[in-house]
Formats: sequence, structure tokens, C-alpha cells
Amino acid sequence: MIIDYKKYPTPRMRHHTGPNLYVPFNEFKVLPRFYPPLLPEIDWNQYFTNGKAPCVLDIGCGRGGFLLEYALNHPAVNIFGVEVRKQAVEWIHSIIKGENLLNAAVEWYNTTNGLPFISSESLDAVYYFFPDPWHKKKHHKRRAFNDYLVNEIHRVLKPEGKLYLMTDVIEVDMYQRSILDTHKGFEFKYAQDEDWNLPRTDHENFSIKKNIPYIRAIVSKSFDSINK
Ligand SMILES: C[S@@+](CC[C@H](N)C(=O)[O-])C[C@H]1O[C@@H](n2cnc3c(N)ncnc32)[C@H](O)[C@@H]1O
Repeated sequence: MIIDYKKYPTPRMRHHTGPNLYVPFNEFKVLPRFYPPLLPEIDWNQYFTNGKAPCVLDIGCGRGGFLLEYALNHPAVNIFGVEVRKQAVEWIHSIIKGENLLNAAVEWYNTTNGLPFISSESLDAVYYFFPDPWHKKKHHKRRAFNDYLVNEIHRVLKPEGKLYLMTDVIEVDMYQRSILDTHKGFEFKYAQDEDWNLPRTDHENFSIKKNIPYIRAIVSKSFDSINK
């Protein structure tokens, strides 16, 4: 099945949302009025028809091209996307409903608040594709991939689970590697085409169209960190 995107006219979406939305909630004395829900826990019956928790998570799912195609290709796998731009979430949600996709769900969420709604050792895969690079040093704190989130990713992945990364910014790749090295619970491997059997993301299609090279990596939990 192919989604006819013409049925879902894309709203005008900015690249970024308000700066407060990238800040973790515990840095505010008073939470801003417009701020994604904190999702301390989730009743998965509200999200997936089979009521089961997701097997895979798409962090920063953007316009959802990857999430939607993955859901179509794997009808038995629940995929959950989180995204900080509310308009994008509402748009993806309208497609999920319009196409009656029973195994895809998306939520407005800021991942700098961790992944409290995901049980430990429950996910086969976490996808983290083409994160906003936030080139300026003063904006680095807006990067969602930090020590806290990486620790959370380690917690939610099954022992054999994998973190999949893609970026077209070399500096972001180096930054992510340094965070993973500091954690010490992961084994990092660059991936080749033959290691990659996943639908393309919207940003990946953009990079291909513009001839921008990009990097892929598959990150496993290290043996030592599983047996601690
Ligand atoms: C460049 S886009 C890539 C989107 C998609 N993964 C793809 O490959 O097409 C990065 C996405 O991450 C989202 N994002 C950035 N910071 C986030 C955060 N703290 N929590 C959730 N999503 C975030 C952005 O809003 C944006 O949609």
C-alpha cells in the first residue's frame, strides 16, 4: 500500500519551533503554557489498536515519512514517533487516522525530558535520524542527543536492541560518538548499504536529491554493559 499524500495537504511548517520547547522541563521554575506534555507514563491502549507497547521508537520523526512507511511495511510491529513540532505531529496523526494505520502512533514530545513512558529493555530499535545540527555553540544545549537521553536509550533497548543513527553533518556524527564513548555502554559501527534495510526518511530523500553525503551507524549495547 502506498500513501497518497495529496489527500493530506502539508501545513506550512517552520524548521524549528519556539526555543523553550527544546529545554528540559526541570530547567523551568514555571512550565511555559505552550510546552509538550511530559508523558510520565502511557496507556498504550490509547495509541495502538492491539494495546501493546511499541517495539520501535522514532525520535524526532519530523514529517513522519519513515515512520509511516515503516508501519506499512511491518504491520505486526508497533512504531511510536516523538516530535517537538506540534504541527508536524498533528499532520502525521491525520495521516495515521486517514489511512487507518493501526500500528503507528505519534506524540508531541520533547525528548530532552527522557523516555519515562517506555519500559526498560522493551525496544528492538531506536531510530534517531538527521537531528537538527544546532551549529552555533550557544545552541548546542538544544541538541536532544545528550548524556541523559543516551542513558535513557540504553535503558529502553533490549540487550540485543540497536540504536540507528544517520546524519549529513560530520560534526554531529563526531559529537554523537563522543557522547556514546563517554557512556561506555555501547559499541558503535558505521553501516554500509548492505547493513541497512530501512525505508528512507524525508531528510534522507532531501540529502539524496541535493547530493549531500550522509553517515549511517548502527549502535549495539556492549556485552559488558548488558552483563553488569
Ligand atoms: C532534520 S529533522 C529530521 C526528521 C526525520 N528524522 C527525518 O530524517 O526526516 C529533525 C527533527 O527532530 C525534531 N526535534 C528536534 N529536537 C527535538 C526534541 N528535543 N524532541 C523531539 N523532537 C525533536 C525536529 O523538530 C525535527 O523535526
